[in-house]
Amino acid sequence: MTYTTQLQNGNELNRLYEDDRPVHEWYRFVLSFPPHLVRHYVEKFGLAKSQLVLDPFCGTGTTLVEAKKLGIKSVGVEANAMAQFAASVKTDWDIEPDKLAEFGRDIAKEVNENSHENVHGGESSKIGVSVYKGPLRAFDAEQSRLVIKNSISPLPLHKVLTLLTAIRQHDAADLRNHAKLALARQTVKDISNLRFGPEIGVGKLKVDAPVLEPWLNALGLMVHDLREFHASSVTPATAFRADARDMGRHLSPRSIDAVITSPPYPNEKDYSRTTRLESVLLGFMSSREDLRRQKRQFIRSNTRGVYKADDDHRWDEDIPRIQALADSIEERRLELGKTSGFEKQYAKVVRLYFGGMARHLSDLRALLRPGAKLAYVVGDQASYFRIMIRTASFWRKWQNDWVTKCWALSCSAHGFRPPQKSAFEKKSCFFSGMAEVLTWQEQIAIPG
Ligand SMILES: C[S@@+](CC[C@H](N)C(=O)[O-])C[C@H]1O[C@@H](n2cnc3c(N)ncnc32)[C@H](O)[C@@H]1O
Repeated sequence: MTYTTQLQNGNELNRLYEDDRPVHEWYRFVLSFPPHLVRHYVEKFGLAKSQLVLDPFCGTGTTLVEAKKLGIKSVGVEANAMAQFAASVKTDWDIEPDKLAEFGRDIAKEVNENSHENVHGGESSKIGVSVYKGPLRAFDAEQSRLVIKNSISPLPLHKVLTLLTAIRQHDAADLRNHAKLALARQTVKDISNLRFGPEIGVGKLKVDAPVLEPWLNALGLMVHDLREFHASSVTPATAFRADARDMGRHLSPRSIDAVITSPPYPNEKDYSRTTRLESVLLGFMSSREDLRRQKRQFIRSNTRGVYKADDDHRWDEDIPRIQALADSIEERRLELGKTSGFEKQYAKVVRLYFGGMARHLSDLRALLRPGAKLAYVVGDQASYFRIMIRTASFWRKWQNDWVTKCWALSCSAHGFRPPQKSAFEKKSCFFSGMAEVLTWQEQIAIPG
């Protein structure tokens, strides 16, 4: 099937193809985009193995994994610690598959041997059996407040924490991250009460659930894939935990040949919420302050992640179309008499979102090689009071506004003159409202 057919077949677009399962399937979230989309742009851009691809919103690493499979170097930036961890593990193929299999066997043996004390009150030798009498391991009060209520029932949580302790105590430090990612995957997928559809919610509460066996299966999947890909581990792929509006600390000037990414949209998705259980489980977040710190690094795209000190709106305050859009949302709110705190924030989120993306573009500018290709996969939304937010059109029609603005701000900071015309030249747009491809034209020297 060609990419065009897939696009016409709307619901095909986001599917993970059977052949793409290896490695990508180690951990994905509902907001991941499909690997075939990455292949499409790699092909379209004619990227060579010596070139470097960036995904500034890399999530769980779809772009990085796919680039690595193709032997192309890649870097990713991601603000969500759990997603960045997943991307790092998914691009670490420098692991002996047999050692990982042995790790699984060791842990299974240990957990089973100690099960009388930790898991089953001595009535069973299998961690997956639901007989238990002793005290349960649990999240502390702060951790419990962070996870969505009833995300996971007490007995399954106890088993998961028992297994996690065994993983953490195992001598083979280089294998622990793979083991932890496999546990995060299975906890969300099979052990917890969470459901995704596409919003995260709580389904039927499970009194008990097997833990060891699903984890071993997930580890087995990794072992299987590593047997195929271990030899390709030489292609570099690195995921940094950072803010896409401030990437210069991690990436070198003029180093990027292509960007392939699916950035956030102003669609009320809370990227910290979809990964909350596993973030708390693996220790990426253990207090409200950790959560706030993480959310502050996100491009503002939902009303639950807006803070008093936010000022990205200054990046688009003189772009008339963005102001008109935000104004129309506020007018509709007043017409409808909507007065809740969230509803009052809608117009503000739109201004902060587009301002944040402008800031990101400005930061990106110095990192691109002249002629670099950019694919931003964005979708149109009817998020706030059913007012259409045509994010892709912003890229298509308003890029000059953005780029001029970015230049005006960063050029004055760096003390050199903005170019007369847009530094981006639009080459093509694949699908109305879907993706935008731009080519970076800048030729002048970047200071420093
Ligand atoms: C649509 S998702 C990308 C999914 C990714 N393509 C994948 O396959 O998993 C957008 C991502 O942007 C991240 N994000 C939001 N604001 C960010 C920022 N300022 N810097 C870096 N990442 C950010 C979110 O945490 C989320 O993982």
